[in-house]
Amino acid sequence: MELIEGLKWRYATKKFDPTKKVNAEDLEKLKEAIQLSASSYGLQLYKILIIEAEALREQLKPAAWNQPQITDASHLLVFCNETAVTEENIQEFIDLKAEKLGMEAKELKGYGDFIYSKWKDQSPEAQSNWTAKQTYIALGNLLAACGEMKIDACPMEGFEPAKVNEILGLEEQGLNAAVLCTIGYRSEEDETKDAPKVRKSLDTLFEVR
Ligand SMILES: Cc1cc2nc3c(=O)[nH]c(=O)nc-3n(C[C@H](O)[C@H](O)[C@H](O)COP(=O)(O)O)c2cc1C
Repeated sequence: MELIEGLKWRYATKKFDPTKKVNAEDLEKLKEAIQLSASSYGLQLYKILIIEAEALREQLKPAAWNQPQITDASHLLVFCNETAVTEENIQEFIDLKAEKLGMEAKELKGYGDFIYSKWKDQSPEAQSNWTAKQTYIALGNLLAACGEMKIDACPMEGFEPAKVNEILGLEEQGLNAAVLCTIGYRSEEDETKDAPKVRKSLDTLFEVR
């Protein structure tokens, strides 16, 4: 199974080779793996910024605990969740779903109203937490796709969201930096590249009832 092989091959890369870049074709495939991710109701209430600009990455690095991957990797992806579940973003989804299914949006109104009814009275914090969680599903698919394509990646929560939000002007767009991921190619000097996987045993991790 190629998926398992890729998952064994991959590791959270600490040191990238700054001279190696992910090519445009591979980047498109990774974008597709993210696009195809499942999300609650299918809403996809997030956006992914792909940051190539060196100067911007230098600016972001101190906000990410000065982790060298931010500047050394080929690309930095910022998974941004929409901070609110609004009537507008649900309507946008309903319109898209209707278009794809060849239906009238009004035929799906009940579904849209149902989703909104579940969220309209929730606190802003609960709404933002829920949309942030969805980004991790997309992150998981990105990591799996990278593993299969032998592209290195490092998922990163080691950053200060408020600072990253400010640098990228995310708040004004109703967005929040939920999680980062750097992608590229491992440096031969990365001391962690041959470390054994540290994972709980299947017996510890699973319980059959
Ligand atoms: C959500 C998330 C956040 C992480 N944040 C960081 C990080 O900020 N910096 C880092 O070097 N590794 C980070 N990691 C990597 C984990 O430490 C790593 O995935 C874990 O130790 C398992 O090792 P492996 O991925 O190399 O198999 C993060 C992983 C995840 C899933």
